[in-house]
Amino acid sequence: MSGRLSNKVALITGSSRGIGRATALAFAREGAALIGVHYASNAEAAEATIRDIEAIGGKAVGIKADLRQGKPAADSIWEQFRAAALAATGEARLDILVNNAGIAPALPLAETDEPTFDELMTINYKTPFFLIQAVADHIKDNGRIINVSTGFTRIAAPSHPAYAASKGALETLTLALAPQFGARGITVNAIMPGVTATDMNAEWLASPDARAGAEALSVFTRVGEVDDVADVITFLASNDARWTTGQVIDATGGARI
Ligand SMILES: NC(=O)c1ccc[n+]([C@@H]2O[C@H](COP(=O)([O-])OP(=O)(O)OC[C@H]3O[C@@H](n4cnc5c(N)ncnc54)[C@H](OP(=O)(O)O)[C@@H]3O)[C@@H](O)[C@H]2O)c1
Repeated sequence: MSGRLSNKVALITGSSRGIGRATALAFAREGAALIGVHYASNAEAAEATIRDIEAIGGKAVGIKADLRQGKPAADSIWEQFRAAALAATGEARLDILVNNAGIAPALPLAETDEPTFDELMTINYKTPFFLIQAVADHIKDNGRIINVSTGFTRIAAPSHPAYAASKGALETLTLALAPQFGARGITVNAIMPGVTATDMNAEWLASPDARAGAEALSVFTRVGEVDDVADVITFLASNDARWTTGQVIDATGGARI
């Protein structure tokens, strides 16, 4: 543990699994005082993340909310977290918010129906927007807001147009909010992962041809591991990234550069 996040209180959406879970564990290794492990329904996975954080010597609380519910979900996440932070640290505080939870269905234009479009936009953009709104007055000076986007905002993705656009909205929000939070030393950045080995991709990456195609995207000719992305998020969360705000940081392994 090198302590880059000593005494920091962090909330990471979608940290039961995948990139969010790896980020939660990385934050714990850096000495975070409390980590909110948000999830939708997979309580078992959230509990496993919490146990693994505790095994590192960290403290964590589970926060359950379905981001499909929009603003009520965002408000519920903050209410649950503030109560947990108060109980665990004596203060209803937050230093780092990572908007990570998301879904990425492969749906070309013609196959995207309206309910699916609305669901994508709500989970990937609308609820993160209202979560930032809910925490805005509570996040500490010199805090961090980190939004997890996708390389598909830089690389054309006809297989995922609605998904790519939902993350494009999140990136635009990142830029739009940076000046307002800058007044308090709070940075607002986004990160764009490329293809990363998580449950989201497990099915199609099981095909050797598809995996080879995904590996060929990166200049490192491999698929990303969750720690490849979590380490960049941890850098953005740390004091080392204090002079970077309003940016989208590429963590695609140099995909199609
Ligand atoms: N993996 C990639 O290749 C890749 C590439 C670019 C960008 N990204 C982005 O990175 C982020 C994390 O992706 P991942 O691959 O780590 O995902 P993942 O392994 O599929 O995990 C998804 C996480 O989000 C939560 N979640 C899903 N739907 C939710 C909902 N309706 N309400 C609340 N939480 C919900 C899940 O909770 P439960 O465990 O309860 O289901 C889980 O914690 C996403 O925003 C994704 O778009 C991923």
